[in-house]
Formats: sequence, structure tokens, C-alpha cells
Amino acid sequence: MQVRLQIRRSDPATGETRLQLYQLDHVRPAATLLDCLEEIKEEQDGTLAFRRSCREGICGSCAVRIDGRTALACRTSVAELLAGGRIPLITPIGNLPLIRDLVVEMEPMWQKMRSVQPFLSPTSDSPGEGRETVVSPALLEAVHKEALCINCGACISECDALTVSPEFLGPHALSKAWRLVGDPREPATGRRLQELSREHGIWECTRCYLCNERCPKGVDPRDAIAKLGAEAFAAGVTRDRGARHARWFVTSARTTGWLRESELVVKTLGVAVSVTKIPLALRLFRRGKAPLPLPRHKAKGLEPARALQRIVAGQDRRGARGIVQGERVLARIELVRVPEPPEPEAEDF
Ligand code: FES
Repeated sequence: MQVRLQIRRSDPATGETRLQLYQLDHVRPAATLLDCLEEIKEEQDGTLAFRRSCREGICGSCAVRIDGRTALACRTSVAELLAGGRIPLITPIGNLPLIRDLVVEMEPMWQKMRSVQPFLSPTSDSPGEGRETVVSPALLEAVHKEALCINCGACISECDALTVSPEFLGPHALSKAWRLVGDPREPATGRRLQELSREHGIWECTRCYLCNERCPKGVDPRDAIAKLGAEAFAAGVTRDRGARHARWFVTSARTTGWLRESELVVKTLGVAVSVTKIPLALRLFRRGKAPLPLPRHKAKGLEPARALQRIVAGQDRRGARGIVQGERVLARIELVRVPEPPEPEAEDF
């Protein structure tokens, strides 16, 4: 099989960036993208820089962007990439500083991970030397997905919120944080939730779900962030703007069936800050981009939605237990899948 790849080559030392086309003429159909990168480096161009170690989807070092989507090179079938005669474009992962070619600096990711203290807090209740705390598998289920993370940086690469706000803790560090907050052995969940709810914490996520979509291990970082938010609410940690914003969505939907956007600004930012937004609000009203706050418009047929909310409230699914996670959504879709129609009965001749 012939394979052609375009690879973005760059050397920050000289500032030079270019696309380079490579061609391999005898590639096995089962080869991965990483196999091809290795062949290029060994046979054609020893200067090409990329990372790899395990070649098995375990170490997380080979993440790259393929036509703009982040994936592990060692888990990507090159035959599938070539479908339709395309020449795939291989570039480094995003939102981390470039070192050279496909290699990025991972230290910013480690710094944020360290900042959430990814280890259990010591406590006077900790078992003594040579003893262990026994936790049932059912209790650890809440953090099972997050424990699968291999630190590849795919979620960071895809995170638009990080692109706009580099100080945002990001999906990787926050899923590590949930690994601890959700662990039944962790005694300092309140303190952790307070810290994670500050500026650049859980409420800075824009809920685009790309981290869930691209994580090669099914960690679903957005689910972890949602669980942190729900636990923060359950613990009464709701002073951050993001938390106030989320709470107003619920209040607004319950009371009128609509999102009352004009009031959303005041409820989220507070009166003092909202006053400074009046010129912007007037421009939006004039151009029909925002509704006037009064009179309030109430949706018809609101009662079924309220009844639904009462049912959910009655289930006592406060906190992380109330978060419907990606895998569960998939399981439900599986459940409601329309069954195959029965085979037509043989005609009676
Ligand atoms: Fe280890 Fe790809 S080389 S995950």
C-alpha cells in the first residue's frame, strides 16, 4: 500500500514552519500512523521529531492532530486515514507550547495537574503502617473512568476554553481533580471544591464536549467536570459566577419555561457589574438581539416540565449521582434501540 502524509515541520528556534510531503511505497495494510512515522524517520528523514514509547495506546506519548482531530498515532489505522485518496495532514497537538515538529512541551499540563493535588489528603483516620483502607468496587465506580487517563493531552488539545483562556485548569487537571473528590477515602472534598470553583476552575468549561469525544481512553473529562459542578452545588459551594449562571438556568426554566436572558446577566454578574453593561444591552435591544425583561413571557404547557423536575428532585440524585454520563447515555440508547422487525412468516402455498 502506498501512503502519502503531509507533516507540519517547525523549528521554533528559527521560526520556520512548513508542510512536508512524505511518501512510503510499501506499507502493510494493517499499519498504524505511528508505524509510518517511524519508517519515515528510519528510512527517509532522521530529523523528523515525534514522541512514542509503548506503541500500544498505554503511555499516551504519541498524540498528534490528524486533519485537525487529536488521536493517538499508535491507535490510528493509516488505511482508514487514506480513504477517498486523501493525504492526511499531521500536526502537533494544540494548546501546549511547540518544541519541534510533532513534539510539544507537556510541562504546563503537569503544572496544572500538580496544582489540583492529585493524591489523597492525609488524615488522622488513615490506617496505620502496614494496613489498608478497604473500598468496595461499587464505591469506586464513581471515579472509574477518570482512573483510565493516560495523560496523552488529547483533551487539552481539543479544549476551546483553554485556547481562549490559557489559565483555565482544563479537562485533564479537572478530571484528575474529580478522581480525588469522588474517592470515598478523600477527607478534604469541601476544600477541594472551594478551590476548584474559583476563577479558571470548573465553571470556565464551555461544555463543548469535544474532550469527551476525542479522549482515546473513554475518560470523558466533561463528565468529570459536570460531576464536580454537581458536587459543588450539593455542598453549597455556589458563589462563583459560573455556579450562579447555572443556577439561574434552572430557576428560569422552572418558573417560566424559558431562559430569561436579560435577567441572566444580573443574576450572574451581580447588579454593580451589570450596570456597566447597560450600553451594550441597549444596543442589543435596539437590534432585536435581546428581549426586554418585562413583561415576562411564560411558556404554555409548563406543568409537565415542572412535574418532571419534581420527579427528578424526588429521586434524591443530588451531586454527582445526578449526572448522566456519556457511557450511560450510550447504554440507554442501546436499551431503547428499536428491535429488528420479525422475519416474515413463510407464505403458505
Ligand atoms: Fe504509547 Fe501511543 S506510543 S500511547
